Amino acid sequence: MTAEHRRTLPRFTVAASVLAAALVCSAAQTVAQAPVKGARDVTFTKDVAPILQRSCQGCHRPGSVAPMSLLTYEDARPWAKAMKMRTALRDKPTVMPPWFIEKNIGIQQYKGDVSLSDDEIGAIAAWADAGAPRGNPADMPPPLTFLDASEWAIGQPDLIVSSPTVTVKGTAADWWGPLAEVQTSLAEDRYVAAVEMKEVNDLDKAAGRQTIGGRFIVHHLIWSAVGDGTSRTEIEAWPVHEVGRNADFFDPAAGKLLKAGSKLVFPSVHLHAAGTDARAHVDFAFKFHPKGYQPAKRVLGLDLTATLDLDIRPMEANQKIETFTTLDRNVKMLVFEPHMHAAGVRMCLDAIWNSMAQTLSCAGYNHGWVRVYSYADDAAPLLPKGTILRVTGYFDNTPANRNVVDPRNWSGLGHRSIDNMMINIGQVLVLSDDELQQEMAHRREVLHLKDGQTVLGCPLCGYSKKPVGTTGGPQK
Ligand code: HEC
Repeated sequence: MTAEHRRTLPRFTVAASVLAAALVCSAAQTVAQAPVKGARDVTFTKDVAPILQRSCQGCHRPGSVAPMSLLTYEDARPWAKAMKMRTALRDKPTVMPPWFIEKNIGIQQYKGDVSLSDDEIGAIAAWADAGAPRGNPADMPPPLTFLDASEWAIGQPDLIVSSPTVTVKGTAADWWGPLAEVQTSLAEDRYVAAVEMKEVNDLDKAAGRQTIGGRFIVHHLIWSAVGDGTSRTEIEAWPVHEVGRNADFFDPAAGKLLKAGSKLVFPSVHLHAAGTDARAHVDFAFKFHPKGYQPAKRVLGLDLTATLDLDIRPMEANQKIETFTTLDRNVKMLVFEPHMHAAGVRMCLDAIWNSMAQTLSCAGYNHGWVRVYSYADDAAPLLPKGTILRVTGYFDNTPANRNVVDPRNWSGLGHRSIDNMMINIGQVLVLSDDELQQEMAHRREVLHLKDGQTVLGCPLCGYSKKPVGTTGGPQK
């Protein structure tokens, strides 16, 4: 979403009232149909509105991507039952909010986690079951303010570069291809702290359809920045522009280099019709670090990809495909980003070190959503070279998966959504042996690890010395 909340919201819990509701419910069954008192205590203004502010309104407000607003009681009331149904799906591919990390396995600490706790899911259900009461208007939290579509979440940009303009007829077929390169006119090398990309088009938003497809024509745009004499190893891994993408704030110690005289190159854009003729371009806004800044670290892309042909059989659920990669360097993994296509419904990432196998993350997958899960700083996997990473993709090629157009078809590897992909799009910091030791010492300290204690995502963190029986690895 392009909008950012302007103030941080307090964490919210309704544990007490939900528990009370449960107790009263079970008592009610034995005491002949007494009204469910506890459930009536859950109200919109007190219990539900704070949840909607934290986890829903970024999308569910006028002018954003979701089909209906959930800003006010009047807006939300008709959707009470649907809200109960969609929030109860947890990590299933149609859950709301669209955050699919499984909570019973793997690392649980992620930045910007908007998913609901069991208590919050219970509160929405109790509220819907009680007839969606409004409650005391005085309990209503003050409304959030959202960034206007023309504002930049990264603040005032230091440089804005526009892609070439494209035109798409209202009924045109989808189009893929390259766009002409553009000059940045940057006079000196600068390091980028944040980048934000926005499609600017002439579609009438008020008249347009209330869907993402009716508001934009650029589905995604792959780009890079190439300066004079930039060598292959110097080319930074820039985030792809995708409809609905947030601004990217890079690790403050790992600014990305935009070289003097850089041009932006666009090897591939995917355009689609919006129902009416439209012209559009994408604006790239860069926020720079101060002059003289030097990065201490460099973030690299590390895609864990199934390169074999994916053999997805027709009319079959629960198809599982694995791919393995052995790390040839020590890394700190910064994100988990499952990327599959229409048939994909789940992905897991495991790390295997010596005889220790750990599941780092599992998430449901819905090809209608682009989700990247950033590990919290003290939970990001610290993996020594020699670690084997296993990515497991799960595919559902049956009518139960509504993203698949015709599940009677076999499908294989390919670029179109009806073909398949299976990638964990990784971002990593490469660590020297010393840096890995430092990171692990820090982790031992903040997590108060005892000697020999293992921790999820860091097989060697519990050891201040090389554990007996391990091979390879960072120890000296
Ligand atoms: C990242 C954006 C986003 C967030 C956050 C989000 N939604 Fe949605 N929501 C959508 C979009 C887009 C749709 C329409 C597509 C779909 O149904 O999946 C939708 C659909 C729904 C629907 C179904 C509407 C219908 O027509 O039946 C419900 C109910 C819903 N959301 C409730 C919620 C609740 C409650 C939250 C917060 C707990 C939430 N959403 C958070 C984007 C979002």
